[in-house]
Amino acid sequence: MSETPHLHAVRTAYDTVAVDYERLLRDALRDKPLDRAMLGAFAEAVRAGDAGPVADLGCGPGRVTAHLHGLGVPVFGIDLSSEMVAVARRTFPGLRFDEGSMTALDLEDDALGGIVSWYSIVHTPPEVLPTVFAEFHRVLAPGGHLLIAFKVGNQLRHLEQAYGHALSLDVYWMPPEEIAALLGAAGLVVDARLIREPDDQERPTQGRQAYFLARKPG
Ligand SMILES: C[S@@+](CC[C@H](N)C(=O)[O-])C[C@H]1O[C@@H](n2cnc3c(N)ncnc32)[C@H](O)[C@@H]1O
Repeated sequence: MSETPHLHAVRTAYDTVAVDYERLLRDALRDKPLDRAMLGAFAEAVRAGDAGPVADLGCGPGRVTAHLHGLGVPVFGIDLSSEMVAVARRTFPGLRFDEGSMTALDLEDDALGGIVSWYSIVHTPPEVLPTVFAEFHRVLAPGGHLLIAFKVGNQLRHLEQAYGHALSLDVYWMPPEEIAALLGAAGLVVDARLIREPDDQERPTQGRQAYFLARKPG
């Protein structure tokens, strides 16, 4: 795996916060019905397509991997951070978690029936997104589905503190039109877009949140 400065920074930050991230976010989906609705629609689509397993790319501690598993989806997780992967394996010993980067996936072409990228592109510099989306397209089987969650905006926020730790981490808030255009340029078709307002927990520091369902044409 090539370790560019951005990948090194993300890996270091998430290695630092892995245990506390898991503790703080383990139940977060419980209070987010619209997020669960998009995960439910994605689960239904991949189950109906039956085109292969689903990879949760940038799975962190595996909370979304486990949620999809609970919906009957054959799913495994991949994350850049070895500490996140260790936490995910400890928390969900029955599920599979591997180390890897979305920029160069160790997966065959057309291998997956689905990809979920739940807030995992938010640390990717916009100029690297075409590489990531090309990888998504390469590893998805024809007819395979993608669910992507990201923060809406047009700014770079640099964090020096998160989840109770000092760190150094860039977060990119992206315009939905730009993400749609980049997905289209990678050969993916956007089927649905949900953009919701920040909820009570998010409102002090966060803005709108976006969830796109897309697909590799069959
Ligand atoms: C905001 S966390 C989201 C984690 C998880 N999806 C969740 O919702 O709990 C971002 C995660 O993406 C991972 N990540 C960021 N860039 C990555 C890359 N290029 N390849 C693999 N994982 C990546 C980070 O290590 C981190 O665990």
